[in-house]
Amino acid sequence: MSLKNKTKVRVFSGTRPTGFLHLGNYLGGVKGYLELQNKKDYDCIYSIVDLHGITSPYNPKKFQEQIDKVVLDYLACGLDPKKCHFLIQSQVPEHTELAYLLSTIYPVSRLEQLPTYKEKKQEQPKYINMGLFYYPVLMAADILLYKTQFVPVGKDQSPHLEVTREIARTFNRHFGQTFPEPKAYFMPLANIPSLTGQGKMSKSKEGSYINLVDSLKVIKDKLTKVPTDIGKGKKIPDKGGVFALLTFVELFEGKKKRLEYEKLYLSNQGIQYKLLKEELAKAIYEELKPIQERRKFYEKRPALVNRILEQGRKYASQIAKQTIQEVKEKMGLIKK
Ligand code: AMP
Ligand code: TRP
Repeated sequence: MSLKNKTKVRVFSGTRPTGFLHLGNYLGGVKGYLELQNKKDYDCIYSIVDLHGITSPYNPKKFQEQIDKVVLDYLACGLDPKKCHFLIQSQVPEHTELAYLLSTIYPVSRLEQLPTYKEKKQEQPKYINMGLFYYPVLMAADILLYKTQFVPVGKDQSPHLEVTREIARTFNRHFGQTFPEPKAYFMPLANIPSLTGQGKMSKSKEGSYINLVDSLKVIKDKLTKVPTDIGKGKKIPDKGGVFALLTFVELFEGKKKRLEYEKLYLSNQGIQYKLLKEELAKAIYEELKPIQERRKFYEKRPALVNRILEQGRKYASQIAKQTIQEVKEKMGLIKK
């Protein structure tokens, strides 16, 4: 690591390669990545966490394609290789090495209680594997390997961040000050609801998401299916399809527009959802258009994309090696 970067604030985040990124990934995760890459004195590493990806059912023949999709979406969103580093997690084997070392200081009982683990068990009852259980420890290793201070993520990742902080504290207590306690960096409204009106937008829930590559027509079709009500009532819904629509209105058309709709909802006139959805589809597409343009640029330049990934791997690798050396020394695994 160059001396210069030792004084910089380290940022790390990751996305599982589950295919095209959706609005939840963009608004909850990548927008935060973008803000931090543009800050002076911040050193950001953004990864595709393929080892986390294989803890859920997946197709090995399509997996490389899935990874490529996220790399292209990252670049398309404006993550800039001049301002941050791109990394494919499994290409730096120190991630798994540190995960094992950290797993020896963390109680099984805490992992079993995690809401994210319980949800996954319900979601994939036939695929409850050791990796799924280990997931938060590997995520802690991803973050701590680079002595990360800030982690831009969606609110859904809070329990995992808490595990990471606990592991850092425990390690420091047992073996001496080594890791900073990383903080989450949340975007406002960072819990992006599902289009179905139930739960969060997620790749694993069909009909819940809008992808960054979706055309105006596809976005319109998806919004048409969002369940609504008669358009008026005594109280603004705080869940369900109408709540989701109003959240998207605020995110893409502004707070003022949302308040206008809320006023209509509470009045006799009511909201006309057909019009709301048409306007909203256009607003979403306007934001996605430049992203789709940039994506086309990188799609045509695979050699450039490979170079970016190779630079990222080299950069991350040298930091990772230093941390592992330090951790092994402190744990008594190698001579000082
Ligand atoms: P994943 O696809 O689960 O690996 O998520 C990658 C990033 O997107 C993480 O920072 C998540 O917190 C974020 N994310 C995914 N879905 C949502 C959502 N519905 N709302 C907010 N953030 C999300
Ligand atoms: N668990 C994260 C998610 O599902 C992905 C992830 C893995 C991650 N390792 C990470 C996010 C490290 C931030 C930092 O979205």
